[in-house]
Amino acid sequence: MLGRLESLEQEGLRDLSAAADEDALQAWKVRYLGRSAELGRVLDGLRTAPKEERPALGKRANQVKQAFESAFEARQQAMAAGRLERSLQTERLDVTLPGRPLARGRLHPATQTLRQIVAIWAEMGFQVYRSRDVESDAFNFELLNIPAHHPARDMWDTFYTTTPGVVLRTHTSPGQIHVMRERAPAPIRVVLPGMCYRYEQVSARSEIQFNQVEGLAVGRHITFGDLKGTLTAFARRFFNPDVRTRFRAAHFPFTEPSAEMDVECFVCRGSRCAVCKYTGWLEVLGSGMVHPTVLANGGYDPAEFSGFAFGMGPERITMLKHRIEDIRAFWSNDLRFLEQF
Ligand code: DAH
Repeated sequence: MLGRLESLEQEGLRDLSAAADEDALQAWKVRYLGRSAELGRVLDGLRTAPKEERPALGKRANQVKQAFESAFEARQQAMAAGRLERSLQTERLDVTLPGRPLARGRLHPATQTLRQIVAIWAEMGFQVYRSRDVESDAFNFELLNIPAHHPARDMWDTFYTTTPGVVLRTHTSPGQIHVMRERAPAPIRVVLPGMCYRYEQVSARSEIQFNQVEGLAVGRHITFGDLKGTLTAFARRFFNPDVRTRFRAAHFPFTEPSAEMDVECFVCRGSRCAVCKYTGWLEVLGSGMVHPTVLANGGYDPAEFSGFAFGMGPERITMLKHRIEDIRAFWSNDLRFLEQF
């Protein structure tokens, strides 16, 4: 029996080193260390062996069992290490490589300017009022002192809807009437930002949609001096603290008198360059004292109340600021343009 143990040990260890993969290894374990393994039968047979041989046989059988177990363990570890080594070789991963950057969203340049403008007016005590994009002809024109067939209508090429008398607003000015009718006779300080629409031939200088920020102040003692002072204060906050402004006479049907405000060219600081077309000045907004007819249409008695209004275009101001030469860049959604802001 001792002889059989010797050869069993040799056979087992030889078979073990021949086991080529995990499956073979498991099969080996069943065969040499499992319930019905020969080694087990040898141990069972100890009872029938001559008494004086038993201790030596038992000791030897246990040695073989331990040899099998530790050889199996070693073989299994070697196989796992080999597997790891192979996957490290084939699935090479450089953890020191920098990650791929995530594309970050950002605000549209026109929205950025719009928000800056609105924030400054809010600091100066003006509430933000959202008016509607779809308007009646009455609000867009007539109540603003622009009657049907009046030549001034040529200033606003209009998108008409299929419903007679309903248009897309061509400017934010109709919001003035909505605010006045809601607030009369209380004093008003509001700005009205929003998209406007015009039936234009699209070109580098004109688009069919663009934002405006309208402003309106109505009270009992508002003067043209207030208009100039307030708009200049805005320009200083928006452009630079010592920017110069100038007001040129203009005409808008809903204001009287009307004026356009220029700021000193912020590119050349007034010394004349291509951006200001060699005038030293940039036109930034239209404004004026609210026309008595418009005040009355809003529910304010023009004998008691006065006010000033203004309208500015964030895209135009953005173009001046960043020297963008083609207004079409704003709504063509080209990321190469948008990602620069
Ligand atoms: N609504 C005018 C436009 O779109 C801009 C404007 C001019 C608004 C003078 C005003 C204003 O409130 O007083 O061309």
